[in-house]
Amino acid sequence: MEPLLETVRVTRAFGGLIAVAGVSFRTYAGQIKAIIGPNGAGKTTLFNVINGFIKPTTGDVRLRGRSLRDLAVHQVARLGISRTFQNVQNFGNMTVLENVMVGRHLMTRTGFLGAGLRLQRMRKEEKHTQRKAYEVLARVGLDHRSSELAENLSFGEQRLLELARAMATEPELILLDEPVSGLNESEKTAMVDILSQLRQQGINLLMVDHDMDLIMNISDEVVVLDRGQKIAEDTPRGVQNNEEVIRAYLGEGIRNA
Ligand SMILES: Nc1ncnc2c1ncn2[C@@H]1O[C@H](COP(=O)(O)OP(=O)(O)OP(=O)(O)O)[C@@H](O)[C@H]1O
Ligand SMILES: [Mg+2]
Repeated sequence: MEPLLETVRVTRAFGGLIAVAGVSFRTYAGQIKAIIGPNGAGKTTLFNVINGFIKPTTGDVRLRGRSLRDLAVHQVARLGISRTFQNVQNFGNMTVLENVMVGRHLMTRTGFLGAGLRLQRMRKEEKHTQRKAYEVLARVGLDHRSSELAENLSFGEQRLLELARAMATEPELILLDEPVSGLNESEKTAMVDILSQLRQQGINLLMVDHDMDLIMNISDEVVVLDRGQKIAEDTPRGVQNNEEVIRAYLGEGIRNA
């Protein structure tokens, strides 16, 4: 079977620091894959390389065999990869609905800020985008908040809003950088339900998180990074019992992290 996403010996250096060191892994359609590892292991950097936000120093990223290395973020988005951020990134002074509408514009060259500005001009004409955005909001349970300013949402709602924007591009693959970080138990349950639904709808997920409950419950396979290197790739249970992984997490404790 052809991999959906493949990283091929991806290395990314920042000056003398090698944040990601020769990491190769593959995901297949229908899979939820997780990337875990201690703080500073290179997880977010790897996401930044995959979605085109930064370039690999060496190595390549391929979507269904096609190299993404020379593509910009909006081009990667157009090919079907969207993402959420570890530190939630919404437009606080725009409504919830507009925040999702921006998602559709992210596939254009203008990018995140440009999309926001352009949206203000085009607001009136965009009935279709509006309807689509509303549908996506309903899928994450935020439709009743559509005309609220994003900055008035709770933190849990902000994470859902960001997910809704990522869904608005109708992606094949969503990269989730710590989707349940900072959420309380009920917000976490809501998020996990939505992620499970996404998977049932055929949207593939690649997820970074420190929440071992989440990772162990929802993912099919786990890649473990430590100081930029891939030290394991296995089933959730397999990595939990892997001696090298346990050592990497010493002090943090993977079994009950
Ligand atoms: N733009 C940058 N410039 C310089 N160093 C960077 C940059 N981005 C990341 N780093 C460094 O690269 C290493 C990996 O960082 P990264 O954010 O990818 O880790 P992470 O696994 O996502 O950690 P966490 O779990 O804390 O989010 C860290 O040492 C970090 O300081
Ligand atoms: Mg990170």
